[in-house]
Amino acid sequence: MKDKLEQIKNKALKMLEGAKDLNFLQTIETNLLGRKGELTNLLKQVKDLPNDQKPIVGKMANEVKNEIVDIIKNKIVELSQADKISSTPLDMTWPGEPAEIGHLHPITQFQRKIEDIFLSMGFEILEGREIETPKYNFDLLNIPKNHPARDMWDTFYLEKGLVLRTHTSPMQLRAMETRKPPVRLLVPGRTFRHEATDASHETTFHQYEGLVIDENISVRNLLSTLESFFQTLFGKEVKIKANGSYFPFTEPSLEVSMSCLICHGEGCSVCKKTGWLEMLGAGMVHPKVLKNMGVDPEKYSGFAFGGGIERLMMLYHGIDDIRLSYKGDLNYLEQF
Ligand code: PHE
Repeated sequence: MKDKLEQIKNKALKMLEGAKDLNFLQTIETNLLGRKGELTNLLKQVKDLPNDQKPIVGKMANEVKNEIVDIIKNKIVELSQADKISSTPLDMTWPGEPAEIGHLHPITQFQRKIEDIFLSMGFEILEGREIETPKYNFDLLNIPKNHPARDMWDTFYLEKGLVLRTHTSPMQLRAMETRKPPVRLLVPGRTFRHEATDASHETTFHQYEGLVIDENISVRNLLSTLESFFQTLFGKEVKIKANGSYFPFTEPSLEVSMSCLICHGEGCSVCKKTGWLEMLGAGMVHPKVLKNMGVDPEKYSGFAFGGGIERLMMLYHGIDDIRLSYKGDLNYLEQF
């Protein structure tokens, strides 16, 4: 009887292995384990065995039965899955899931908006380098070594005496190495300052720098250019005003403000009740700087300005914390 069991087991395993569809599986199951199945019959005969054989053969027969039942169960799962896949029609023309596409960072988008406005006013757009030499970041801009004015920019100093540019102004000098007046240049780009961060300060930020040099350029040209820029950007009647300021590379130097977008000059919390928002530093290019550019200050004059892109963007979109732009937070970024 043991041999018989062994035989049944081997035959069953072979057949099950080759089973390719559920019907065939059903047949194998009935033939073995059905009411008149081979294994069922054998199990029935166990009771007629001598007493000392009964438990041993009984146990063995049950093991064979369980083994076969397990294999059948697994086979059913396997075959029914294969069945499902092969019965699902495959349409190769069905459109795929659209891939999620990102977009330009809000600061880049806004920078391009600024560029477009200046392009429409005939400016050339240039980019500088983020790592500068002190010569371009300071010296040629009339900020000598050890002059207290250097402290106006909290600088990150790098190895080999290099600096992370503290403003986009060094590009005024670099650009003029390969150009002659008349020029109208706009230099947007990333700048760095060693400052504590808060809602309106970041160590990394962006500036847009303007430089116009020609004959007979005056403060009036500077102010009307900036007024057109702000009016085009905000699409409404904004006024600008200029207060005296100090930068070593401009003379006179100006602090340019724009009438508050929220209260239109009445005074509110955004403009700290002054009715004005400080927008950028500007002025007439200092004669010494013109000379450093190889431009004759007797013949030419020019204006320059430099403002923060984030500050402008925050006003434009109503964002209250500059740090949001550098977090990589999708909830924020996906709103643009
Ligand atoms: N570079 C100055 C700053 O970062 C701004 C400025 C640019 C002022 C050009 C005058 C002319 O503070």
